[in-house]
Amino acid sequence: MEKHHIDVMIDEAAVDNRIKELGKQISRDYAGREVYLIGILKGSVYFTCELAKRITVPVIMDFMQCSSYGAATKSSGVVKLSKDLDMAITDRDVIIIEDIIDSGRTLSHLKDLLSQRNPASLKICTLLDKPSRRVVDVDVDYTGFQIEDKFVIGYGLDYDQLYRNLPYIGVVEFD
Ligand code: IMP
Ligand code: MG
Repeated sequence: MEKHHIDVMIDEAAVDNRIKELGKQISRDYAGREVYLIGILKGSVYFTCELAKRITVPVIMDFMQCSSYGAATKSSGVVKLSKDLDMAITDRDVIIIEDIIDSGRTLSHLKDLLSQRNPASLKICTLLDKPSRRVVDVDVDYTGFQIEDKFVIGYGLDYDQLYRNLPYIGVVEFD
């Protein structure tokens, strides 16, 4: 691993506060309904769980995992499902929970795939967004923070599988 250090970008209190706000907003928007949260493994595990704790309408949590088919086909935006949902989402109010949107390829593909299963509604909630990196357009309904184009870790995000457990968002700086 290249020599590097971590700088704090968004501290723990700020992340927690923002997640509380998103939870309130979602609770208001879905008043009287039940939400079906889909966390995208592994990056959005922490965010999905913390957000779910702050939502006051009934919540169902499910997870799916996808990976892109490899560098050669990355531009096609084709992602492979390595773990599908446990339940059907037909007629459910679904929110996809992502850690970060970069090119937008993953989410745009996932949204297409899930909308074919006829949910009652389908929205996207991301903790972080790097709008300057967007290649494929995606409508994002809830965003925690828009950030500049830096490689970030923590709160589920990894650098070579490390740092997911950090309770804040950090930037990897190479020495
Ligand atoms: P997209 O399909 O390009 O939008 O890819 C989004 C995925 O790339 C995220 O779910 C992350 O797994 C990964 N990713 C993008 N930017 C970062 C970053 O700054 N740190 C860690 N992972 C990232
Ligand atoms: Mg991810």
